[in-house]
Amino acid sequence: MDFFQYRQNQLFAEECQVEALAQKYGTPFYLYSRATIERHWHAFNNAVEGHPHLICYAVKANSNLAVLNVMAKLGSGFDIVSGGELARVIAAGGDPSKVVFSGVGKTRDEMKQALEAGIYCFNLESGAELERLNEVALSMGKVAPVSIRVNPDVDAGTHPYISTGLSENKFGITMEQALEVFQRAQQLDGVAIKGVDCHIGSQLTEIPPFLDALDRLLTLIDELEGLGIRIHHLDVGGGLGVNYGDENPPHPDQYARALLDKLGDRKLTLIFEPGRAIMANAGILVTQVEFLKQNGDKHFAVVDAAMNDLLRPSLYSAWQNIIPLRPRKGEPTHYDVVGPICETGDFIGKDRALCIEAGDKLAVRSAGAYGFAMASNYNSRPKVAEVMVDGEKDHLVRARETIEQLWQGEQVLP
Ligand code: LLP
Repeated sequence: MDFFQYRQNQLFAEECQVEALAQKYGTPFYLYSRATIERHWHAFNNAVEGHPHLICYAVKANSNLAVLNVMAKLGSGFDIVSGGELARVIAAGGDPSKVVFSGVGKTRDEMKQALEAGIYCFNLESGAELERLNEVALSMGKVAPVSIRVNPDVDAGTHPYISTGLSENKFGITMEQALEVFQRAQQLDGVAIKGVDCHIGSQLTEIPPFLDALDRLLTLIDELEGLGIRIHHLDVGGGLGVNYGDENPPHPDQYARALLDKLGDRKLTLIFEPGRAIMANAGILVTQVEFLKQNGDKHFAVVDAAMNDLLRPSLYSAWQNIIPLRPRKGEPTHYDVVGPICETGDFIGKDRALCIEAGDKLAVRSAGAYGFAMASNYNSRPKVAEVMVDGEKDHLVRARETIEQLWQGEQVLP
């Protein structure tokens, strides 16, 4: 559940009228709800209450400092994939000792930065990465806590671009290689084995693929114990889906209960890396209709947001609901809602039944995850503002970029 609701025929974000915010900040802008972020985070945390665990929010979903700070105040951990994300977590008041570092290509500098910060664990994705981390840690006189990401080769049944747990994907190491890599890790003085890790994909709306993966990981953990390699934690990654339209993903309670049932009385600490499940429905993108136009039979609503602001529809053919801030009465028309960018792929939604006029404002729902985080300056469009509501209060949490910022750092030849 989220806190974007119609009241008195207009859209509210918590106690704020979204239209008033559009007047104040101009469009387009992202709008986040603090209460929704907190609610979703607690849903995860409460789901595993009573079992040792750590919720490591996946920073890539939305890395705005205010978003990270809200979660840091709840005591959240963080899942990062770059030195930049680590720096953001620290700048936002996050605790580095609750950070796990994922990703297939960590550089030496990033490893050093994370060792200096004292992170909780490196999620390693290859034997070569293990060797590199060992070298870096030894050169600093440190021992790096590690888990190895295994690729359980299960089909998460999600979009091919966001499915990561099949052996054809670049992520993790195969189950077959895993024993060898763990045994190698045990011989190295610069690393200490802490866990086993996996992440099979994103926007999963069913529990069985998670359980298939867990079965395989538990078999591996038993084999490792047999070899005298003790595993302290199991990181199950992120990937729990959300409701964009008519999906019906499991609640974190159902998901966690299914995992805990399988764990039985094992004492493994569970780590979760949710991104979308916390942030997607905690944010909207507010945009204004600039023009309505008709080409033949086709109706278009040209809005002021575009694929550079919200890439998911163009990149994954993702469907996100588009609703008016103030619904009008009347017969709806079917519009393709498109941006001003010079690409046919620049659309926010296709064939949407809307009753709108030029100047009306729309909200693109479920835009809090992988929205601003994937924005670019394509077509020299400044990145939009980000605002967070907290009850009756609204806060600008990232100023709209200025035109001058577009060429910041650029130089013409002498
Ligand atoms: N952990 C790891 C190692 C990941 O690679 C990801 C996401 C997550 C956690 C968080 O997954 P989530 O709970 O958000 O599903 N841009 C795409 C999604 C890409 C996800 C990449 N990895 C989209 O807009 O749908």
